[in-house]
Amino acid sequence: MLGLAVIGTGHWGRNHARVYKELLSEGMIDGLKICDADENRARQLSESLEVEYVTDYGDLIEDNGIQAVSIVTPSRTHYQLGKEFMETGKDVLVEKPLTMDVDEAKKLVEAADATGRILMVGHLFRYHPAVRELKHRIDAGELGEIQNLIGNRLLFRVPRSDMGVIYALGIHELDLFCHLLDVDYPERLSASQTMSYGQNTEETASIFMDFGYAKGYAFESWLVAAYDRMRDLVVVGSKGSARVDYLNPQQLQLFDNRIVIEEGVPVRVANDEKHVVALPHAEPLKEELNYFISCVKSRQNPLTDGAVGLRSVVMAEAALQSARTGTAVELP
Ligand SMILES: NC(=O)c1ccc[n+]([C@@H]2O[C@H](COP(=O)([O-])OP(=O)(O)OC[C@H]3O[C@@H](n4cnc5c(N)ncnc54)[C@H](O)[C@@H]3O)[C@@H](O)[C@H]2O)c1
Repeated sequence: MLGLAVIGTGHWGRNHARVYKELLSEGMIDGLKICDADENRARQLSESLEVEYVTDYGDLIEDNGIQAVSIVTPSRTHYQLGKEFMETGKDVLVEKPLTMDVDEAKKLVEAADATGRILMVGHLFRYHPAVRELKHRIDAGELGEIQNLIGNRLLFRVPRSDMGVIYALGIHELDLFCHLLDVDYPERLSASQTMSYGQNTEETASIFMDFGYAKGYAFESWLVAAYDRMRDLVVVGSKGSARVDYLNPQQLQLFDNRIVIEEGVPVRVANDEKHVVALPHAEPLKEELNYFISCVKSRQNPLTDGAVGLRSVVMAEAALQSARTGTAVELP
């Protein structure tokens, strides 16, 4: 019997609850509860999904019917909640960022080791079907040597007050670029930021990641109205390029174009063709939660485990430091 609970049913946690409810109906789990400190919020979602709710997460810690939890509360609370749940025998999926502090992230990794609990971090885009397809093709050498990775996450919204775009959005690029290149960290990283609303959190940032031959460029903003909502990734290789539109998980775009070099000099563009690889329908969050459940059942260490979450916190802190000081940060 596998009982799941979602702690935090705000903007993102309600999606965890909705997807687990689907997985409950499909027989992948045996029970589901939700928890939010805001009782109105918890009650409304509990009525629409027809699942039991609590307002005190301590009730779930004592609940023997719950073996695993999704922690989808504000990021600064992840450490305390993650630690308590693991130490009382529950497996945890903590939303990204794992924490907003390197020492806290390290302690969560240690707690997972000490307790033998599963600690998975919600780096959603690793479970995105088009990213998986892209990774497969990069590993097979189809794009040649990777030269550039370019990520954009642009929309127009009231900036969050609990974190800026580096932790909220850039963390995806920090993790994904390393994943796609099979490295733990870029060699060095630099970032710049804008804080237009005086809240001490950046609402726009650009992050540059130097991987040696390959370079990564990420642009994150909550102040760009021109594109409605744009979230994409372009990977440029010596043999071709690929583009993922994160809002369209059902396709990967491939471009055959490359620069022809003659006698050491770039002279023209060749093979200017585009192919669209159609992928079977799969919601990235459902892929992620299904995978978490499979790790809980099989006791397999997740692809996005605590160590992956810790590395992305180290990189986010390095980006914030670089944006503050104006100097690049060397990474291990
Ligand atoms: N993976 C993704 O793509 C993605 C997307 C959005 C948000 N997130 C992450 O999800 C987390 C939550 O973000 P959000 O936008 O949903 O925030 P939110 O503020 O909309 O929701 C947080 C909820 O947690 C509840 N809460 C706070 N402390 C609690 C506690 N101790 N016990 C029970 N409930 C508690 C609040 O009442 C609120 O309803 C953040 O860490 C964020 O970075 C991830």
